[in-house]
Amino acid sequence: MILLTGANGQLGTDFQKFFDHIETPYIATDYLDLDITNIDAIRSYILDKKISYIINCAAYNDVDKAESEQDKAYLLNRDAPKNLAQVSKEIDAIFVSYSTDFVFDGIKGSPYTEEDIPNPISVYATSKYQGEQAVLSTYDKSFVIRTSWVFGMGNNNFNKQLIGWSKNKDSLNIVDDQRSSPTYSRDLAEYSWELIKTNKFGLYHLSNSGECSKYEQAKYVLECISWKGTLGTAKTVDFNLPAKRSAYTKLDSSKLEAVIGKKIPKWQSGIDRFLEEYREKN
Ligand SMILES: NC(=O)c1ccc[n+]([C@@H]2O[C@H](COP(=O)([O-])OP(=O)(O)OC[C@H]3O[C@@H](n4cnc5c(N)ncnc54)[C@H](OP(=O)(O)O)[C@@H]3O)[C@@H](O)[C@H]2O)c1
Repeated sequence: MILLTGANGQLGTDFQKFFDHIETPYIATDYLDLDITNIDAIRSYILDKKISYIINCAAYNDVDKAESEQDKAYLLNRDAPKNLAQVSKEIDAIFVSYSTDFVFDGIKGSPYTEEDIPNPISVYATSKYQGEQAVLSTYDKSFVIRTSWVFGMGNNNFNKQLIGWSKNKDSLNIVDDQRSSPTYSRDLAEYSWELIKTNKFGLYHLSNSGECSKYEQAKYVLECISWKGTLGTAKTVDFNLPAKRSAYTKLDSSKLEAVIGKKIPKWQSGIDRFLEEYREKN
């Protein structure tokens, strides 16, 4: 049996849809069912359930708020994955957890591989990096999958914000000095599962192919929805946000593509399919 934690977020929602589609049984939990910050609660929850995979989709993802809520960020992004890795080890289940392109400082200027040394520049990024290290040092049957700029139907994200803004603004300025890959949570779930089935444990990068700035992502989305307003550029510094942002964090997913023998779709394809799904639901 597969146990999903944080199952009502973007990735968790798409894992549920995917497992329904391939008729694979799973147990979906959010924090009301299972508090993953409490290791005894995890042990007692899984006791009678014959769990063979634990896939952790839960995270503290508010990059700016994390600067003032450090304890919460570390509890959820470092301590909870460590708890889950420890319990997975005790029951010999495969463990999967997720991390972020933000672990890199962004100065390399070309796509980051799993060999590149992280240098997180915010509380959120440090908490995620420490979570990776905690998992990989606790249990050798773990996957840690870094991804970037996730969007899906399960939670709020930049694409949904753009759609919202397009309804009541006739001009928008979006930053052009942050580059990475927007990643559709449906692709993230499906390609993760391809990887998980290989049993080739360790650290992987998994993002949609290609790269863009936030401005280019916005341009693509707004053109797809035929917005008639004016789109301009801005710089990260204009917004005076609490957390520092890395300028360039494109992840190189070629290690994962070689292991699964498949190419990951382009980010534009992810956005096209997201918009189709969005139109069906709205
Ligand atoms: N979103 C991105 O752009 C992005 C970028 C890079 C990496 N990632 C990583 O990718 C993974 C999936 O991200 P996502 O975008 O799917 O995240 P998400 O939509 O924010 O979902 C996270 C889920 O975790 C839940 N949660 C919060 N505290 C919990 C607790 N104590 N116990 C159990 N669940 C709890 C949240 O519930 P509530 O909503 O009720 O708080 C939410 O449903 C995460 O590891 C994330 O850090 C995401």
